[in-house]
Amino acid sequence: MIHACSVLVIAGSVRPKRICLDVAAWVAAAARDVLSNQVEVIDLKDWALPMDGEPGLPHRGDYRLEATRAWSRKVGAAQGMVFVTPQYNWGYPAPLKNALDHLYTEWAGKPAVIVAYGGHGGDRCARQLREVLTGLHMRPMRTTLRLPLRRDLIEADLASIDAAVEFAPQERRLRRALGQLGRCLPGPG
Ligand SMILES: Cc1cc2nc3c(=O)[nH]c(=O)nc-3n(C[C@H](O)[C@H](O)[C@H](O)COP(=O)(O)O)c2cc1C
Repeated sequence: MIHACSVLVIAGSVRPKRICLDVAAWVAAAARDVLSNQVEVIDLKDWALPMDGEPGLPHRGDYRLEATRAWSRKVGAAQGMVFVTPQYNWGYPAPLKNALDHLYTEWAGKPAVIVAYGGHGGDRCARQLREVLTGLHMRPMRTTLRLPLRRDLIEADLASIDAAVEFAPQERRLRRALGQLGRCLPGPG
């Protein structure tokens, strides 16, 4: 059986209490609607990648840790990515950078959508991530999502939000970005 190529929706936050998985689930639902590809949400908490734990340079691909090898297989088999990330102190979370830095060639040439969120939409984090993805020779899509998180929601520090309601005004833009991604993915067969 031939499977449509897969798109990974990578959730950037691993905090014990986080809204990232809700945002990622909303993004993944839209992706399943817009794209004819398999869509999988990646929770970096499940990947146990030690901080910069590989002894060798990632671009050589000579991985010693089974966790890195598994991560390499997962990313290598995917054809497109959506990064869903909060803004932390104007940047994106360290576990996301660590997950990116564990690999190199596996990312290259692949199209990616950036979905950032934060008090002012996470624009600074989105810009930093775009630069790093470009350094990894990925192809960030023209349309980036900057989802504004209400101040009272930030202060409430919730473990869950209704992302579809909170970010309803951004849904069209999300679908536009996913459409751009879809046009960069290999066709069926
Ligand atoms: C370490 C840390 C730094 C943060 N820095 C920012 C920031 O620079 N700008 C912003 O708008 N919100 C900032 N926030 C608030 C986050 O936008 C908010 O907590 C959001 O829920 C984090 O996403 P998460 O729950 O998925 O981890 C920060 C939160 C944390 C935990």
